[in-house]
Amino acid sequence: MSDVLLLNGPNLGILGRRQPEIYGTDTLADIERAVGEEVAARGWNVVAVQHDCEGALVRTVQEHYDTVGAIVNPGALMIAGWSLRDALANYPRPWMEVHLSNVWARESFRHDSVLAPLASGVIVGLGPLGYRLAARALVATVG
Ligand code: DQA
Repeated sequence: MSDVLLLNGPNLGILGRRQPEIYGTDTLADIERAVGEEVAARGWNVVAVQHDCEGALVRTVQEHYDTVGAIVNPGALMIAGWSLRDALANYPRPWMEVHLSNVWARESFRHDSVLAPLASGVIVGLGPLGYRLAARALVATVG
């Protein structure tokens, strides 16, 4: 077992072209590369998956129980992604929730995550650095 699941939800596949004043100019490929760099020393590979549909994300979680852990940016599914929550509740390994933007500094509908209570940790507002830090946290947590 040596793969980390990097899971990104709706609208994150267009990072770099999506509201760069909020989400920055790094692409998802940049972020995937950065996470790969972080976990390489631990001997892990990154399995990077992005879907705009909740069902596809649920299926991806179900198919990756054999990963060492996961980094999840659920996008707007943080707000009411109940089936993604149920899928992550059955994911047997530690996982970190990441949001590029500081969701608490934004609209009130972004202030709650239905997923966060299940996460080992949550990182918000640090842009792409948040993914790197989540990867380091995963290395530290899994050991
Ligand atoms: C986001 C924050 C969410 O509220 C938003 O719906 C996104 C991106 C972030 O990374 O900051 O799609 O998850």
